[in-house]
Amino acid sequence: MNITMIGTGYVGLIAGLGFANFGNNVMCLDINEETISRLSQGECPIYEPGAEDLLKSNLKANRIQFTCDTKKAIEFGEIIFIAVGTPETDNGEADLGYVYNAARSIGNYIDSYKVVVTKSTVPVGTAKEIRSIIHDTIRNRKEDINFDVASNPEFLREGKAIGDFLNPDRIIIGIDSNLAKEKLNSIYKGFLRSNKPIIITSTNTAEMIKYASNAFLATKITFINEIANLCEKVDANVLEVAAAMGKDGRISPKFLHPGPGYGGSCFPKDTKALAKIGKTFGAPLTIIESVIKANEKQKEIAATKIIEKMPKGSVIALLGLSFKPDTDDIRESSAIYVTQKLLETKKYKLKLYDPQAMEESKKQLSDENIIWCQNAKEAIQGSDSVTIMTEWAEFRNLEADYLRKLMKGNVIFDFRNIFIKDEMIQAGFEYNGLGV
Ligand code: UGA
Repeated sequence: MNITMIGTGYVGLIAGLGFANFGNNVMCLDINEETISRLSQGECPIYEPGAEDLLKSNLKANRIQFTCDTKKAIEFGEIIFIAVGTPETDNGEADLGYVYNAARSIGNYIDSYKVVVTKSTVPVGTAKEIRSIIHDTIRNRKEDINFDVASNPEFLREGKAIGDFLNPDRIIIGIDSNLAKEKLNSIYKGFLRSNKPIIITSTNTAEMIKYASNAFLATKITFINEIANLCEKVDANVLEVAAAMGKDGRISPKFLHPGPGYGGSCFPKDTKALAKIGKTFGAPLTIIESVIKANEKQKEIAATKIIEKMPKGSVIALLGLSFKPDTDDIRESSAIYVTQKLLETKKYKLKLYDPQAMEESKKQLSDENIIWCQNAKEAIQGSDSVTIMTEWAEFRNLEADYLRKLMKGNVIFDFRNIFIKDEMIQAGFEYNGLGV
């Protein structure tokens, strides 16, 4: 099957690579010429484990190509995925400008029956709006070309994107026509063998499933974050609480890891967009509204813990700047928030290190009190305190003795609970975990 992917951001690129790997012929379209040129040469513009290998192997097999030529790309695919960004507007809504532009381009260049599918996270009703934009654009050309619009939200996570795409828990297809259903089923036929469900529903329901899933996960994280804060006050251990709660099949242990607040390009944006949709339709989502507030508070709590404990003049190593491990993405990262809060005090020298996100962080943070470090050792050396912001595997392997030898002081802020509290205290650290 010929597939066109509009947008080579995280979702578009990984989905394009995934569909190519399933044996389809994929053409990815983007307006960014540099991105297209790098991808065409087998160079992946994002850090995502496994992505560059998949890119190289599928380029070699001639199953994937990259272009800035909109007409060519739209004529190419029997199925056209829209996977462009839906950034947050100033009032918290999803900005659908790129999505609607893509729909207009499809209307302008469509030359035969196609199934147009949204992969971007979009508010309920967007597929229907896309249908009318394409319909009107075709009519303006005085043509009569048949097409269907479907919704196929994506659930992959950054850092685990390839595995999540190739082996998802479920596929959601929102669709209204049988022909479109057949076409979409055929590109997922490799997945059918895995015995995982393909759920067919309406476009509105599919769009709602995506928002509800992200909002629920954000709620779960926020719930355990608040329980962690309470555990600290009442001398209970949140790790034991979460593990015991997770044994209940109805709860599950996943997404119950406390931290300095969720970040990334999805949860913060999608919770706000969903809360806004709830308000617009007169069905307020008060839980989600509280989650948004509590998450902001959680980031502040992390920064305040350091500021309250560390005296003026301290040298603080901050390990991890990306919003989660295995990505160079710093969008809405709590680590960036905490760094900025510490810099605002003008009290500290900050030694910053991240295995992949240094380049991105340097674009966002600039201050005379920042010391950019080449590796974790350099950051830890001579510091009064070490703070774990992101749980990269290489930080998990840091031994207490090693830290003691390198550090000048002995204060640890472990906002991801990667160390064992008793071991750290025994090794002479003043250990501050989260809810332990
Ligand atoms: C999230 C969803 O997990 C994906 O299913 C979805 O497809 C994606 O958004 C999207 O809508 O595109 P992602 O943002 O890549 O994926 O990352 P997550 O692994 O969900 O982590 C999000 C944030 O929550 C990170 O800051 C992470 O540190 C935090 N988190 C996650 C916790 O603090 N505790 C947890 O237990 C889990």
